[in-house]
Amino acid sequence: MGRVSFDFSDRTIFVAGGTSGINLGIAQTFAEYGARVFVISRSEEKVQAAVGSLRECGAQIADGMAADVRDVGAVKRAFERCAETLGEIDVLISGAAGNFPARANNISSNGFRAVLEIDVLGTHHVMTAGYPYLVKPGASVINISAPQTVVAMTGQSHVCAAKAGVDMITRTLALEWGPDGIRINSVIPGPIGDTEGMRRLAPTPDAMDAVRQMVPMRRVGTARDIAETCAFLASDQASYVSGAIIPVDGGWCHNILGTRLDPILDEIEATGRR
Ligand code: NAP
Ligand code: COA
Repeated sequence: MGRVSFDFSDRTIFVAGGTSGINLGIAQTFAEYGARVFVISRSEEKVQAAVGSLRECGAQIADGMAADVRDVGAVKRAFERCAETLGEIDVLISGAAGNFPARANNISSNGFRAVLEIDVLGTHHVMTAGYPYLVKPGASVINISAPQTVVAMTGQSHVCAAKAGVDMITRTLALEWGPDGIRINSVIPGPIGDTEGMRRLAPTPDAMDAVRQMVPMRRVGTARDIAETCAFLASDQASYVSGAIIPVDGGWCHNILGTRLDPILDEIEATGRR
């Protein structure tokens, strides 16, 4: 099967939270496909390193700025600079997020607020501050969600609430921005290897193995898996896809009970018991 490639030359992509992990992988993939790329995150050091790597990947132009998505003024300044240096935005990715494992009874008001503010309020800031600069018609907006939006997980009440909020923003803005010719979708990454998210939720090799066993395809994903779906969503081939919440997870979110039944099914098949 031939490899599908995309051409994003003369297109501009803005990636909020685009300086590490999955979101940096998305930014790098669009850079390889020839785009102009702008990234933001809190750390100036991470921004500079990411911009350097984007140039190495072949970005037509790469730039970035330190900005906390909780600070609407900083987010607005980043979009102003992006417009000055890279022009109008064809693809907007909102992926900044916070996570730590803790049961609800052990999460302080401030801890819960931190995650809600980064994920939900941050997405609102990125959407509304970015809107004036989006190509109309034609822009593609993608929010990075998580499996916690569809499945409840212990130790994740804050993230479950936050990502469900992010996806309702996706659905609502698909209604509000559709008439402008802007499409907006969410991508739900499954467990992705070599990321901060997985280091926090599955910190040992045994924990990673257990996660791998829960994925029907028996592997964790890569940032590239997520990036290619984003490239499809941003392409003309996806011109009628809007308001969709798309899992890219090897089937993981359908398999909460499946692996638990496997030993019973093995025994039934081995013994012929019905
Ligand atoms: P990551 O490397 O920590 O990525 C988070 C990015 O957001 C970083 O660039 C971080 O940079 C930035 N960021 C964090 N707080 C910010 C803030 N307040 N303002 C601006 N930028 C901020 O983590 P990741 O694991 O790759 O996760 C990336 C996305 O994928 C997240 O939305 C996450 O929920 C989602 N996801 C991940 C997985 C997984 O397996 N890893 C699975 C499902 C969903 P700074 O520290 O410089 O701010
Ligand atoms: N368990 C319980 N509470 C925790 C916690 C943990 N592991 N880590 C942080 N918190 C609490 C803090 O105690 C604080 O609450 P308090 O003031 O009542 O003590 C609150 O969360 C905010 O922490 P702080 O470190 O000041 O926030 P921050 O804004 O600097 O960082 C976080 C935000 C906590 C989400 C931090 O983990 C972060 O920056 N994450 C970004 C990267 C990331 O999460 N990547 C994975 C994405 S899937």
